[in-house]
Amino acid sequence: MKIDQAVNIEDLHQMAKRRLPKIAFDYIEGGIEDERGLERNTSAFHKHQLLPRYLVDVSTRDQSQTIFGQKFSSPFGISPTGGTSLFRNHADLMLAEAARDANIPYIMSGGSSETIEAAAKIAPKNHWYQLYAARNPEINADFIKRTADAGLGALVLTVDTPVGGKRERNIRNGFGNIRGGLFQALSLKPAILLEAMTHPGWIVEYLKRGGGTPMLGNWQPYAPPGSNAEEVYKFASSVRPFNAQTWRDLETYRKLFPRALVVKGIMNPADAQRAVDVGCDGILVSNHGGRQLDQAPGSLDVLPAIKAAVGDKAAILLDSGARRGADIVIALCLGADFVFFGRPTLYGAAAGGLAGVKKAVDIFRGEIDLVMGQIGAPSLDVLGPDFLWTDDWRRNL
Ligand code: FNR
Ligand code: LAC
Repeated sequence: MKIDQAVNIEDLHQMAKRRLPKIAFDYIEGGIEDERGLERNTSAFHKHQLLPRYLVDVSTRDQSQTIFGQKFSSPFGISPTGGTSLFRNHADLMLAEAARDANIPYIMSGGSSETIEAAAKIAPKNHWYQLYAARNPEINADFIKRTADAGLGALVLTVDTPVGGKRERNIRNGFGNIRGGLFQALSLKPAILLEAMTHPGWIVEYLKRGGGTPMLGNWQPYAPPGSNAEEVYKFASSVRPFNAQTWRDLETYRKLFPRALVVKGIMNPADAQRAVDVGCDGILVSNHGGRQLDQAPGSLDVLPAIKAAVGDKAAILLDSGARRGADIVIALCLGADFVFFGRPTLYGAAAGGLAGVKKAVDIFRGEIDLVMGQIGAPSLDVLGPDFLWTDDWRRNL
């Protein structure tokens, strides 16, 4: 199957699976432990049904959405994903370029292979940065300064990684380790190498970038001068995870960053309220795509509680589990202002590079357009709980 034949995100998923060796595919795909959080993310969306309104003029449909004073062409964006050159060389820059062309936000990961500055050159208006804070306050201050100096619209602090998750697929594949946490080293054991050899497209790219662990592009300036990818990885791992981080650190980041500050990974309404009190502009409700705490609720399940706690005092963003345009519409009905996804655009990048990322974005956009037409919503501002069917049918009257 070719990229332009992909009809839905699942097609891109299957194409990525065919192109990647197990070690790389499992890294994208996996959750933690029994992968129940992963399953909960999907079933949280499947629980909902949309209740259409007809005899509404839907001859023009506008899915643009404004957040942090900027108008984007769709109510979705790309979540931060680290280690992307494992799947496709320069994937971070492809994500940035596709986001620019589609006018949606792209959040570069704190574990990206490319740099803040390189992506800002490609997509100056569509680029946000996700901070994985270090133990060293001067490194964090420099990350924040670089994000501000590059003109990025938002800084996204991920807080749901005080420790690394127990990602059993990665452990079995001999990739990374439990204690090593987030930034995982790639070492191809003989059996794994043999399987990888059956994916020649991937092997060629792997060799082209020199093999081994992907470069942590943004961390290079802080590692000892002249460090190669392996040494930068070792350095970053030595200052990560920053599990002594507290609300006081968030207050410091708030003071340092002049534009929108978003906290990613908030699941508890009390934490959401506290983030608003600290002056955050956005809460990204997320269970990290089921990759950190297997017993966490599905992100969509906690959304109504977060909305009740935050109201209109901050923007509400959500990720984890969205695979259809309808999923995004459902989240908007439940109070989200913006929905993000991580794996779908990675499937696209792995399957077909830039064209694959663009395809994933087009699929979501096309599906949202059709759902808006089908439910009688010419614009997003009409969406709300009234569009969701409830078994207590009196509430829908
Ligand atoms: C991630 N995620 C993630 N989150 C983050 O804050 N920083 C990161 O570096 C990464 N890295 C990462 C790598 C890969 C391969 C995946 C799949 C995910 C989590 C990501 O931002 C997002 O929360 C989830 O991917 C959302 O779930 P879906 O859309 O993948 O279901
Ligand atoms: C992950 C880390 C990098 O989820 O956040 O893979």
